[in-house]
Amino acid sequence: MSRKECIPSHIAIIMDGNGRWARQRGLIRIRGHEKGTESVREITRECAKKHLKQLTLYAFSSENWKRPKREVNLLMKLLKEYLIKERKEIEENNIRLTAIGRINELPEDVQRELTISMEESKNNTGMVLCLALNYGGRTEIVDAAKEIMRKVKEGKLRLDEITEETFREHMYMPDMPDPDLLIRTGGEMRISNFLLWEVSYAELWVTPVYWPDFRKTHLEEAIRDYANRERRFGGLIE
Ligand code: FPP
Repeated sequence: MSRKECIPSHIAIIMDGNGRWARQRGLIRIRGHEKGTESVREITRECAKKHLKQLTLYAFSSENWKRPKREVNLLMKLLKEYLIKERKEIEENNIRLTAIGRINELPEDVQRELTISMEESKNNTGMVLCLALNYGGRTEIVDAAKEIMRKVKEGKLRLDEITEETFREHMYMPDMPDPDLLIRTGGEMRISNFLLWEVSYAELWVTPVYWPDFRKTHLEEAIRDYANRERRFGGLIE
């Protein structure tokens, strides 16, 4: 790998372990999510400084609605506050904010703040910060398949024209580069329905560190580990 290739273009993160972080300290779970917001801030800033093309954060999965209503409400409140508070930081770091997932099912006030943040940052030319919100990888593939089928039905697309590229074009964010590195905090060895289509060739890096404790040094450790790997994409290296 050349020097430039050593830094992944796109890092995706499953931010896990907030609840356990809080429990370890005898605190309620939401305190872990609150503290996790500090990690979001530091890691976003560091990734922007390293000139990544994209950072995608799994902030709320389509399965997270199953949590107690109180926790869901507090997570939504936290998200809304984050969107409002972080506008200045996003602007200063030339970040463009986007989101993937069934956004239209989020509470209206969260949708409103999200729209404002996306609109305000749309001309920024630095890193893309993509928040996966009410996101599920299988749902994304189903949504893409439905849209493709609709086009076939309407005669806009022929069955024999459908390729992997067609699917990519119908994902929530068609122009996103596939993640090169998928980081999971909190130690579990699972993908948890995250970016199923997009992580096909991503390098995985799992750390036992809980998300609220995840800092620049851990990020750099993950990037160093990535840089030492040989990516073959199913082929052979001469
Ligand atoms: C998983 O930890 C984490 C979440 C479900 C939410 C992630 C949210 C944040 C980091 C804060 C808000 C996000 C933004 C972008 C401002 P868990 O609760 O499953 O932890 P556990 O496995 O230890 O119980």
